[in-house]
Order: sequence, then C-alpha cells, then structure tokens
Amino acid sequence: MMNPTTYPEKRARLEEYFDRTAADQWAKLTSDAPVSGIRKTVRAGRDRMRATLLSWLPGDLRGRRILDAGCGTGALAIELARRGAHVVAIDLSTTLVQLARERLPADMQGGSLEFVSGDMLSTSYGRFDHVVAMDSMIHYEKHDMVGGLAGLAQRTASSVLFTFAPSNPILATMIRVGRIFPRADRAPFIEPVSEATLRAEIAGQPLLSGWRIGRTEKISSGFYTSQAMELYP
Ligand SMILES: C[S@@+](CC[C@H](N)C(=O)[O-])C[C@H]1O[C@@H](n2cnc3c(N)ncnc32)[C@H](O)[C@@H]1O
Repeated sequence: MMNPTTYPEKRARLEEYFDRTAADQWAKLTSDAPVSGIRKTVRAGRDRMRATLLSWLPGDLRGRRILDAGCGTGALAIELARRGAHVVAIDLSTTLVQLARERLPADMQGGSLEFVSGDMLSTSYGRFDHVVAMDSMIHYEKHDMVGGLAGLAQRTASSVLFTFAPSNPILATMIRVGRIFPRADRAPFIEPVSEATLRAEIAGQPLLSGWRIGRTEKISSGFYTSQAMELYP
C-alpha cells in the first residue's frame, strides 16, 4: 500500500528533521515563549486548526479510543484526553514525545494519554473510534498520504480527521524557489496537493471505498496554510 521507496525514505528524513534539526524550534513554537511575527501567525493558524479539528469531534469523548497520529508535542492529544478520551499519541520524534510527556497536566479528568514514539501507521496499537492527524500527513506525496489514511481507516470506527497542504500556483512557486523554507530544511517538508487531486486520489483508493469525505476547512494565517478534511464510513 505504501510506496516501499518513497515512504521509508521520507519518514527517515522527517525523523531526522523533527527529532534533531528542528526539535528546539518546534518546542518553542508549541510553547507560550515569545516568537517572531511570522511564527506568531503560524502559531495562531495552528491554534485555529486544532480548534477546528476538536470541533468536529463529540464534546464528550468518555470511553472513546483516539489515535493522535504524528502528535508532536501533544497539544491536541491533551485536549482530547481532557474530554475523557483514551488517547494513543504517537510521533516519530522521541525528543518531541519526551517533551509531550513533560507537558502532561496532572489531571486528565477521566481520560488517559499514552505517548509512544514510532510510526503512526503501525498496526500495533489496535482499533480506534477516531484518528486525528494534524499536519503530519502533509509531508507525504499524495499516494503515500492516501495509502496511509486508508490503512488508518481500516482500524477506525467513526472518523479520520487529517490535514493537507492545499496547493496553489503561488505556494508551489515559493517552495520551488526556496522562499518558504531555507534550502536545507525544505526538502523533507511539505507536499502540497490540490483539493481536487486529493479527492480523486481518495476516490481511487480501493480500501476507502466504504468511506466518504465529510467536512473540509482551509485555515490561512500569515505563513500558515493548511486544510482540514474529515473521512467517515
Ligand atoms: C508539522 S508536525 C505536527 C505535530 C502535531 N500534530 C501538531 O500539530 O502540533 C508533524 C509531525 O508529524 C510527525 N510524523 C511525520 N510522519 C510520521 C510518521 N510516519 N509517524 C509518526 N509521526 C510522524 C513528525 O515527527 C512531526 O512531529
């Protein structure tokens, strides 16, 4: 299902990037520490995206099992556990997962949170009611992205919420000429895809034949642009 060449190669570069190159920057971006104007817009956009994904899930998540796929420093996972969910939060980066554990509030109000480091597509973690993948699928080319979503959907009862980087000609040009990411950083970064192309890829994925596309919402805030999408059976 996953391309045996592109998927492991991209995953290894992402682990290197999020576990070493960008771990400190990522820790800062996801904290309350002051950041530059550009990063403030990114932080605000990410806050809106997290709120959007949360608004697509039931308010009461008691007794539900949720996978936070590519959890980073764990902000979304913590909100889900606060609503009573049993959350498995997984990330390739052991550094970020360790930081997420350190940020864990003492009171989970009936929910639970298990942080693990590893591949979010691993089949070792059982079945879920919901899966959320905020800005973690954006790094994979469309075939691997949709293949990954299909694998997750096979183990999910109610919905898979994910984000993609909606492509447009300006973004594509800026990425190509290196104005968005410094040359060294940009290679493993994002794989923009248009909504129409993504919809066609989803429609063509046999493992998603029983699944529908539900809500979708694009969030743009300065240098942050990402689009949420819901899949349900
Ligand atoms: C842009 S960050 C977003 C983190 C978090 N979801 C958030 O919104 O704060 C992308 C994260 O996805 C993780 N990631 C990418 N591919 C992954 C994979 N195959 N398995 C687990 N984590 C992955 C990266 O390590 C990184 O922490």
